[in-house]
Amino acid sequence: MNTPRSVLFVCLGNICRSPSAEAVMTKLAHDNFLKIHFDSAGTADYHVGKAPDSRAIEVGEGLGYKLSHLRARQLTIQDFYDFDVIFAMDKNNLDDIRKIMPANATARVGAFDRTPVADPYYGNISDFDVMFEHIEQASKHWIDTWKHPQ
Ligand code: 4NP
Repeated sequence: MNTPRSVLFVCLGNICRSPSAEAVMTKLAHDNFLKIHFDSAGTADYHVGKAPDSRAIEVGEGLGYKLSHLRARQLTIQDFYDFDVIFAMDKNNLDDIRKIMPANATARVGAFDRTPVADPYYGNISDFDVMFEHIEQASKHWIDTWKHPQ
């Protein structure tokens, strides 16, 4: 995959998985001198305007990622033209994105990882540890891919 200029992460609520992926990738890209713009959104509007889940902030900041300034927003049709890549965090997210994807969308849409990133919202803090480990592992894969474009 060519190195994208912009990547949007999408989950359901935009308060747990996608803002965490945005924060991890922003740091890893910066550390690797990759100039890529990252953002995140939710397929649902439940939490629009809210900061990430306090457990995501706590675990993420403990690992050195900045999330507390992020605010949830809902995926828009314009996103399909504004971003080079749209990554779904799980299979339901991917299905929901594809349902509203315009036929002439310019973004490439796909799964962030082969294994869906489990929704930690109804879990406990250890589920957020697992979520960050999963996101870090998948993020490293994409950073390596984009550092060595084919
Ligand atoms: P996220 O987690 O999609 O990773 O942000 C969720 C956040 C909120 C809800 C579900 C999942 N919710 O049902 O409100």
